[in-house]
Amino acid sequence: MTSNWSENISIGDPRADREHSELLEHLRQIHQSHETGASGAKLTTLLSGLLSMTEQHFAHEADLMAEHGFPGREDHLKEHALLLRDGNALLDELRNDRISFSIDTLKFLERWLFQHMKRSDREVADWIRNATNEG
Ligand SMILES: [Fe+2]
Ligand SMILES: [Fe+2]
Repeated sequence: MTSNWSENISIGDPRADREHSELLEHLRQIHQSHETGASGAKLTTLLSGLLSMTEQHFAHEADLMAEHGFPGREDHLKEHALLLRDGNALLDELRNDRISFSIDTLKFLERWLFQHMKRSDREVADWIRNATNEG
């Protein structure tokens, strides 16, 4: 796995930052489990856990955006919905043995998690930081 949690993807809210850190740690564990030969069933269960954590985090982030009056909230929520849809579609494929858990699955999950954090969550972080400085 190439990336780690850093200040780079900090939101500036303690709970959101902790959740980002936990999500990345969970993904790291999935990666490690894959490397050490965990079964497909085990990896699928771990992925299911990652999706639950992500769903909870997205709900918290929705509240956070509302709390700070983030203007891009609607678009951000749509992106969350798409991410959950894609994640659940992947889980479904794995559960029904239409695909098997592979390095490509891991690559997909890394992109899935990081791109949103680095781009869209970054915008939320910038907004919160500016709003806090002005307030
Ligand atoms: Fe987000
Ligand atoms: Fe986030």
